[in-house]
Amino acid sequence: MVTSICLHRALLGLFFLCLPLLSASEYYRPSNPRLEKAYVALQAWKHSITSDPKGFTENWCGPHVCNYTGVYCAPAPDNPHEFTVAGVDLNHGAIEGTLPEELGLLADLAVFHLNSNKFHGALPSSLECLKLLYELDVSNNQFEGSFPSVVFQLPSLKFLDIRYNRFCGDVPSCVFDLKLDALFINNNQLTFSIPDNIGNSPVSVLVLANNQITGCFPKSIANMHETLRELVILNTGLRACIPPEIGRLDKLRVLDVSYNHLVGPLPESIGGMRKLEQLDVAHNKLSGEIPCSICDLPRLKNFTYSYNYFCGEPPQCLKIRSHDDRKNCIPYRPDQRPPEQCMAFLSKPKYCDSNGCIARPPPPPPPPSSPPPPHHHY
Ligand SMILES: *[C@@H]1O[C@H](CO)[C@@H](O)[C@H](O)[C@H]1NC(C)=O
Ligand SMILES: *[C@@H]1O[C@H](CO)[C@@H](O)[C@H](O)[C@H]1NC(C)=O
Repeated sequence: MVTSICLHRALLGLFFLCLPLLSASEYYRPSNPRLEKAYVALQAWKHSITSDPKGFTENWCGPHVCNYTGVYCAPAPDNPHEFTVAGVDLNHGAIEGTLPEELGLLADLAVFHLNSNKFHGALPSSLECLKLLYELDVSNNQFEGSFPSVVFQLPSLKFLDIRYNRFCGDVPSCVFDLKLDALFINNNQLTFSIPDNIGNSPVSVLVLANNQITGCFPKSIANMHETLRELVILNTGLRACIPPEIGRLDKLRVLDVSYNHLVGPLPESIGGMRKLEQLDVAHNKLSGEIPCSICDLPRLKNFTYSYNYFCGEPPQCLKIRSHDDRKNCIPYRPDQRPPEQCMAFLSKPKYCDSNGCIARPPPPPPPPSSPPPPHHHY
């Protein structure tokens, strides 16, 4: 009953009109029913804004919503003779307020950009009325509460950007089943593990950074090889090994898994990422030798592997335009860790199981077997 909710809200919204600026005839004759609803939605929104320092919404008065700052109209997809609101872009407005349920009345909205404002609260559930919504960017605001699951009701959504907000709690795994081109959820307070269905996601850019990621690094990430160009899992607390399957991501240009607790070796298969330009694995607990295959990558311009426990690097690594091998355990290289640190690390090796999860070390050998207890025959 979404539609009737939307209409009901529309009628309520009629009480919020900016009457003083308009003659009665202008007021009573908006140009078509879609723009009339948009008018209700935008007036309700204007009334839930508490601060608009740049005056973006100052001219949001009167029925001609297509003239409002940040509001973009276009012919309706199902009726080229009728104009409708196709886009809202209030990027960098520094506007404070909330998003009212009436926004669900903008039924033809394709692009909704609110980047760099101070909106708070939740995304209204009525956004599920926006069946044509293609780009949703609410990044760099103060939205809070759980992951906005209303996005799962948006069949046209291709670009989802909720980064730099205060969303918390779990990330529903079905976000990776959405047919998105790009997904940014970084810099929130989300706590989740990377689910196995991550491989279903057709995104070209995936940024999970600066959240709390538990669990392992699933090898199914390799199934993103058709589309993935950029993967950023920076500073998430991830404790895992890098699965060798990651090397199948042969269209990847940027891989950043720095500032985690990754252990084990850097897989040689990364040398199969023929398009890789930027690789950052710094500030982990990786060890072993840097594989030659990686430093031979033809497009690699920036390879950062400082602050790990690597013990060797092939000479070609030093020819990469920008490379950083500081604070490892590499003999004869400047600015490495003190030998005690390297020894202490090596004495406590970490293992991973076949799922890329840190496993307990193999049990110590059993103590020398004591002589079997004597058999008693009764
Ligand atoms: C929109 O604004 C322009 C310029 O201010 C004005 O000429 C035009 O009449 C306005 N259109 C409507 C429908 O109000
Ligand atoms: C290389 O990457 C590191 C970390 O990702 C970054 O800090 C640095 O600025 C980059 N260097 C160049 C020359 O792009």
